[in-house]
Amino acid sequence: MCGIIGVVVSNKSTRYSPGSMIFRGLLRLEYRGYDSAGVASICGDKLIVLKGKGRIIDLEKKLGFSKICGSVVIGHTRWATHGAPSDINAHPHTDCRNWFAVVHNGIIQNYLDLKKTLINKGHVFKSDTDTEVIPHLVEDYYGVLRNVYRSFKQAVRVLKGSYALLLISVHEPEKIFFAKKDSPLIIGLGNGFNVLASDIPAILEYTRRIITVRDGWIGYVSGNDVYIEDLDGNIVDWRRYVRIIDWSISDAVKAGYPHYMLKEIHEQPRALKDTFYGISRDENIVRVVDMILDAEKVFVTGAGTSFHASYYFALVTNVLAGVMVYPFIASEFESYTSAVGEGDLLIVVSQSGETMDALKALRAFKERGARIVAVSNVVDSAIPRESDIAVYTRAGPEIGVAATKTFTTQTLVLAWIAVFLAKSCGCIGDDEAREYMDLLGDSAKIVSETISVTEYAAKKLSEWLYRVKSAYYLSRWIGVPVAMEGALKLKEIAYIHAESYPAGESKHGPIALVEEDFPVIFIVPSNREVEKLLLGNIKEMKARGAVIIGVVPEDSGLVDEMDYVFSIPRTHWLITPITHTPPQQLLAYYTAVRKGLDPDKPRNLAKTVTVE
Ligand code: AGP
Repeated sequence: MCGIIGVVVSNKSTRYSPGSMIFRGLLRLEYRGYDSAGVASICGDKLIVLKGKGRIIDLEKKLGFSKICGSVVIGHTRWATHGAPSDINAHPHTDCRNWFAVVHNGIIQNYLDLKKTLINKGHVFKSDTDTEVIPHLVEDYYGVLRNVYRSFKQAVRVLKGSYALLLISVHEPEKIFFAKKDSPLIIGLGNGFNVLASDIPAILEYTRRIITVRDGWIGYVSGNDVYIEDLDGNIVDWRRYVRIIDWSISDAVKAGYPHYMLKEIHEQPRALKDTFYGISRDENIVRVVDMILDAEKVFVTGAGTSFHASYYFALVTNVLAGVMVYPFIASEFESYTSAVGEGDLLIVVSQSGETMDALKALRAFKERGARIVAVSNVVDSAIPRESDIAVYTRAGPEIGVAATKTFTTQTLVLAWIAVFLAKSCGCIGDDEAREYMDLLGDSAKIVSETISVTEYAAKKLSEWLYRVKSAYYLSRWIGVPVAMEGALKLKEIAYIHAESYPAGESKHGPIALVEEDFPVIFIVPSNREVEKLLLGNIKEMKARGAVIIGVVPEDSGLVDEMDYVFSIPRTHWLITPITHTPPQQLLAYYTAVRKGLDPDKPRNLAKTVTVE
């Protein structure tokens, strides 16, 4: 997820220079990505590009984004998915002759084929990004058509994937060309200027009259005019689509949600779709599976939520592939290093890629000859950099301190690796593997449905839960790490003590705590055997007066045993973390809000713990 913005001014009537409008707009878009940024403009007959790795405010000091000359300016703030964060991989990207500059949010699926064809035609590429194929494509078509818009349209027609694109050209210095598919883009209508951006926060300071660009629309804006058509050439009467935004800027950055955490819970379908797209085409998955098969011993580690994802991975690889993977909490790494030697493998799960506990575990294992695989959400962060190989979630930046979309996307990546592993070792056949892969591909849709059917129940239950002092989160088998994640959310966001452990363990002590109205939350995976076993645990708790809450497959007999139930579509146990976690996230969120707490900034916590 990146942020793009473009400003075109017809005269000097606005309060700000286009460069300053772009710089301020980029700051408002920084929550969409912040590993590198850049701007481009047409100054006289020249294309000017200022860009680099780092935060926008630092790049402003170094490069002077706001002082860039020209009345047509585009800008970009990046969240790397293809190509590490670097000066050369930062947007905007240009063609060989410096006729065109492009900023892009999305993923071009067919960029490798396009790049190969363009290189064979003599184009010279500078970056590792998918985006750079676009200006070279337009340049190639322009060589024949000698018309910017027609060349742009031709180029867009051959792109596959998702894009919100802005292009400027020395041949049409008073226009910004745009196209949109799957990634967001809006047009802001000003007096004597027009502005385009990924979303509303970037433009609210300048105008409240906006057009939400639809998929398949393409066109251009000048300082006084807007032209839109669809890819079949049908002209769009854009005046019908103008609306007035009455949000405050802070509301807009959260896209109208009251908190980033709720926004990011709701972003999970998009994050899962992008992550699935990425891993299902990532050649590194095969290499990771080979490293697991070649290893003597395999360990997996992480901290907090990332440990829960690690634990889930250990369970899935065991069940699907019969491969023993040892999960441990990252800060406890010294308890495992004495058993580590050459030929061992450590998988380090970390959304930030900067958690010191995980980094120390990585270094200790590496020192003893182990090879390292990183699973992270931040390209080229410390843990991937120090690993032998890295695979990535594509959740986009997570601003809320509590991990939400990064957990479900981590488990998607880990499940994908486990399925590939099981297929590679012949433990499952091609058909079964294909079924699992299709299931993971459907997870975005399933989560979207789960969130919509459980959000109201979460809000209602929080009206009761917010008063409790303590709660148990119980499950069995694949549900245990998911229950642990739910307990962590309630602790870190609503400050309510919550403990999670395998339900079968209750009679060995913990049940002593249970009394009248004690809340016990059961996570019930889609597995009839497990459901039968959990029925016994539910009855134990009920007999002692507990309030029984459950995240349960809708057709399970356990639904009737619950005092409060989040009934969700019955799917497959493999995606339990993806289907059963969002209701728990919502419950923790609404409980915190009911207590008058700020879920985005929980006390004593930081988003990334870079100290040991
Ligand atoms: C989870 O909600 C917390 N924010 C915390 O436990 C987090 O998961 C942990 O600090 C690990 O962070 P990482 O994934 O960036 O390594």
